[in-house]
Amino acid sequence: MKPILEVNNLTMKFGGLKAIDTLNLTINKGEIAALIGPNGAGKTTFFNCITGIYTPTKGDVLIRPDGTEGSTKRINGLKPNLVTRKGLARTFQNIRLFSSMTVLENVMIGCHPVTREGILGALFRGTRTREEEQFIVDKSYRILEKIGLEAYVDELALNLPYGAQRRLEIARALATDPFLLLLDEPAAGMNPKETQQLDELILKIRDEEKISILLIEHDMKLVMSLSENIFVVDYGKKIGEGTPEDIRNNPVVIKAYLGEDIDA
Ligand SMILES: Nc1ncnc2c1ncn2[C@@H]1O[C@H](COP(=O)(O)OP(=O)(O)O)[C@@H](O)[C@H]1O
Ligand SMILES: [Mg+2]
Repeated sequence: MKPILEVNNLTMKFGGLKAIDTLNLTINKGEIAALIGPNGAGKTTFFNCITGIYTPTKGDVLIRPDGTEGSTKRINGLKPNLVTRKGLARTFQNIRLFSSMTVLENVMIGCHPVTREGILGALFRGTRTREEEQFIVDKSYRILEKIGLEAYVDELALNLPYGAQRRLEIARALATDPFLLLLDEPAAGMNPKETQQLDELILKIRDEEKISILLIEHDMKLVMSLSENIFVVDYGKKIGEGTPEDIRNNPVVIKAYLGEDIDA
């Protein structure tokens, strides 16, 4: 079985700083993986490189969207909206919702890049466009039900409790029909109950939607409970990779986290 994401020798320089340094990483179909490391290690930069926000200085980002035996497509250098169309969706470390739009509208926005009609259709407003709008509403509603936010459909995003806002971001990402979902610190700022709900939600997305997941996360309890494979980065370099058990016992990783608790 070949991986659905292959990142080879990725390097991202900002002036003299190598935020990512010859990093290799693969994700398999149906896998939940985590990218961990101290603050400033380059985790968010890694997401930005593979989702088209930055064009990497060196290296390749290859996806295999048609399954594990299909051929790869090189996506580095593609603009973010095209990367989304290819099936990579993400959430951001800082919540980025349209706060004065409703919950339903926030998810509908996620649907747009993958619909047939697009902006031209919206301008001419034919029958097909109305059909398509209904399709988008229905699809968004179904996603909100799955995420457990159906009670809030008509609420403005800004009125949602914090944990629900984070789940709404995931709902919007799911609306683009990804094969791989990238979550940047999804549990940040959550209370223990919200984190527990998130844990269950991530498993449900993988199990029911067959979407692979790569999460950046500081909550080690969540990382250790969810992940099948963990990548550890420090100063832009991969310093460890393996199962939660491997990572817990890896002396290099323990040293990088000195003073921090990875024994969750
Ligand atoms: N656009 C940028 N310009 C210059 N430096 C950046 C930029 N984005 C990130 N960095 C630097 O790259 C390093 C990695 O940052 P980041 O990827 O945000 O780390 P993490 O998400 O692991 O906390 C940091 O030293 C940060 O200051
Ligand atoms: Mg970050």
